[in-house]
Amino acid sequence: MENKKTAGKLIVFEGIDGSGKSTQIELLCQTLKERKIPFYVTMEPSERPIGSMIRQILTGKAHADPKVIAALFTADRLDHLLNEVNGIARMVEEGMLVLMDRYYFSSYAYQSVDAPMDWVIQANALSAQTLRPAVNIFLDVDAEDALERITKNRGRTELFEEKERLIQVRERYMEAFEKLKDAERVEMVDGSREKDEIAKDVWGIVSALLDRDLKS
Ligand code: ADP
Ligand code: TYD
Repeated sequence: MENKKTAGKLIVFEGIDGSGKSTQIELLCQTLKERKIPFYVTMEPSERPIGSMIRQILTGKAHADPKVIAALFTADRLDHLLNEVNGIARMVEEGMLVLMDRYYFSSYAYQSVDAPMDWVIQANALSAQTLRPAVNIFLDVDAEDALERITKNRGRTELFEEKERLIQVRERYMEAFEKLKDAERVEMVDGSREKDEIAKDVWGIVSALLDRDLKS
């Protein structure tokens, strides 16, 4: 059977740390493979040099002021979109379905705890103009459950993985979604359920988006 062609689009997964983004992306990849729908999967922070710098800070190997961290995320995002090797903007333009673990709403939610949200949104305006997601899928899990998942399965935590912080981050996500409701498509999914139940909802959202292409 031949690969099915869809129009290029970006599907972003958002949520606090431990909300199940990687798990749901993996399950979605399996479904897409079974259906022979080509896709490219990626994440932010990226796996390129600025992303590595950010990971050094997240794991405590390097330190930087929160506003500098915000600027690094912005720079990493532009590089992720525009670099000549595997820039996402061109991929989507050329017809690829791109799945991404975090994008600018992560900056709006996490960096607005230390800097004004409007400044963070402004700092990312060029990314938003360059490539807007077809949908932002928000996996909603409360901070306590998310942290329990992280510590149970990993044992160590990173810079932002602290309960009070994650409660604030979740609130900032809601604030950002409300602020940008006219410009952005956001789908809320209850991420506190079993993995397969969540995956069904995710597939419902994604297949509705793809159906339009596959039918035309
Ligand atoms: P994220 O990428 O959002 O940080 P992960 O997908 O890595 O989240 O999930 C964090 C941890 O929680 C992992 O160990 C994963 O196996 C587990 N997990 C993911 N989804 C669920 C779920 N629906 N119920 C219980 N545990 C889950
Ligand atoms: P990630 O590796 O996705 O962590 P997790 O799988 O636990 O969700 O992201 C690393 C951390 O970086 C996470 O705490 C969220 C944070 N982050 C920001 O603060 N701003 C951003 O713009 C992005 C993309 C991530």
